[in-house]
Amino acid sequence: MEIDQQLPKDIPTHVAIIMDGNGRWAESRGLPRLMGHRAGTENLRTIIRACGEFGVKYLKLYAFSTENWGRPEDEVKGLMKIFDDVFERELAELIDQGANLKYIGRKDGVSEKMQAQIKHGEEITKDNDKLFLNVAFNYGGRDEIVYAIQRLIEDGVKAEDVSEEMVSDYMFTSGIPDPDLVIRTSGEKRLSNFLTWQTVYSEWYFPDVYWPDFNKDELLKALHEYSNRKRRFGKI
Ligand code: FPP
Repeated sequence: MEIDQQLPKDIPTHVAIIMDGNGRWAESRGLPRLMGHRAGTENLRTIIRACGEFGVKYLKLYAFSTENWGRPEDEVKGLMKIFDDVFERELAELIDQGANLKYIGRKDGVSEKMQAQIKHGEEITKDNDKLFLNVAFNYGGRDEIVYAIQRLIEDGVKAEDVSEEMVSDYMFTSGIPDPDLVIRTSGEKRLSNFLTWQTVYSEWYFPDVYWPDFNKDELLKALHEYSNRKRRFGKI
């Protein structure tokens, strides 16, 4: 199908992506799964650049869930190595792109080296405002809600004072607008514990391509589809 190369007029402020299908992309080529994750990582640069170009302000990427620790040890180790390489390699590019990096998830579960890399990345990009890039790592939507409740209780907040705004402020995503558009690649149609609190009125889009093949044209198609949706937020 011919892709409309014109930018739609209604660009979502916040796009969140579940980068699914790396393993199947590799298996369909007779390659080890980790090669799929490597290819998926290569694709990050393309999509980050395209978001900057298309005027998307917030990009949230689901990189590793609280459940992903349950994958075979070799795959988890391989993924950690890939993340390590990505942080080393892509930071200069992110600075160049005017990206502001923020980690979303439980930092306490990741290695000290990665914690230091994240801290450095967040610090060095903190004044950038072209694209707000949130990386969800060791992240689970339910875990985030549990963690928020724990901290509300620790802070001695009275039950009658708890409001939706307050709960939002206790999320990892405090101060960040909710996603307008959530994309899950690979044809799977599940939320998989991503942004449980934040996606109640997000628009969903499920392209059939695996993440390594989700290129700039695919993103443009998603933006066109989004601009054709009628958002009513429970009203008429
Ligand atoms: C899902 O594919 C993908 C992942 C679990 C990892 C996603 C990570 C990256 C693309 C690389 C780095 C990203 C950042 C932001 C540092 P899958 O393994 O579930 O694929 P399958 O469903 O085909 O098996």
